[in-house]
Amino acid sequence: MPPSAILTEGLAKSYGPVRALRGVNLDVPEATVLGLLGPNGAGKTTAVRILATLLVPDAGRALVSGRDVVREPDAVRSQIGLTGQYAAVDENLTGRENLELVGRLLHMGRGAARTRADELLAGFELTDAGRRPVRTYSGGMRRRLDLAASLVGRPKVLFLDEPTTGLDPRSRVGLWDVIAGLVAGGTTILLTTQYLEEADRLADRIAVIDDGQVIAEGTSGELKDRMGEDVVEMRLVESGRASEALALLAPLAAAEPRLDAETGRLMIPVHHAGGTLTDVVRRLDGANLEVAELSLHRPSLDDVFLALTGRRAEMEQEADGDARGRFGRRQQRKAA
Ligand SMILES: Nc1ncnc2c1ncn2[C@@H]1O[C@H](COP(=O)(O)OP(=O)(O)O)[C@@H](O)[C@H]1O
Ligand SMILES: [Mg+2]
Repeated sequence: MPPSAILTEGLAKSYGPVRALRGVNLDVPEATVLGLLGPNGAGKTTAVRILATLLVPDAGRALVSGRDVVREPDAVRSQIGLTGQYAAVDENLTGRENLELVGRLLHMGRGAARTRADELLAGFELTDAGRRPVRTYSGGMRRRLDLAASLVGRPKVLFLDEPTTGLDPRSRVGLWDVIAGLVAGGTTILLTTQYLEEADRLADRIAVIDDGQVIAEGTSGELKDRMGEDVVEMRLVESGRASEALALLAPLAAAEPRLDAETGRLMIPVHHAGGTLTDVVRRLDGANLEVAELSLHRPSLDDVFLALTGRRAEMEQEADGDARGRFGRRQQRKAA
């Protein structure tokens, strides 16, 4: 086992009556990415702020590169970079001035700070934009600059708190490439996200956090395996008969079948889709339950989250007017 770059044990934090973290254990090996995945209010930012020495926990302990965040905050700070949910750069300075300023604050010489700024601007495709004030930047450019600013001191451990929230899909994918490059270079990353797709794509391991607790942990594949190999998803013509259908199909399911109350869809995890599908249709037919839609798909992390918490994560309105799970679209394969 490689040494842990980030280790927490029983981390707890309350804000008055609000218990934001209720005993969180995390272990992130060096040069890997942990995706801390959870809905709004789950406790992600609180965990990151404790690890970045900005907040003191009520109980438990946290080590970054083997240093205790409470007892050795300066040692921890020299190892880390932090990119917040909201970009923290000076609007009125140019991109390059912002990066040089960070270098100077880190006690780099003038020449070294300039060289590092140029390297980072080039690496993030901001060389031309680097001459303009940040207030003229797009959201994606601003986020790239913010990330560049957190890398000036070549941190060994990087905390990215919802780095792509609010970005358009193209900028999001661009940032994913940058993050993948950093990990290839040996940086350890703790990334918080509300996007299942993002955790799936970037993280070596995923910790699902809800209401201040880690409710599941593993690789994306391990989390999906809990769900059976495929999920049969359907909508009935008579939505009022959903629970009747669930009871009828339960014996065929590999894991607990579910009703998504928001969409009226039934989801039945199954092991052998081909054979089971015939049985599903036969049973429904026998009970005169008419199916409006039926599809088969691989379990998404959305299914995992729904199974673990009994609810879908935040819905967000897409440009085409469809409300979709924030945890990414699933790949659908029409089966009927
Ligand atoms: N400064 C604060 N004062 C009071 N409550 C807070 C404060 N910061 C966060 N909380 C609450 O703590 C919980 C966890 O918040 P947070 O760590 O920001 O979650 P996340 O980043 O996953 O959205 C939420 O219920 C939130 O409302
Ligand atoms: Mg947050």
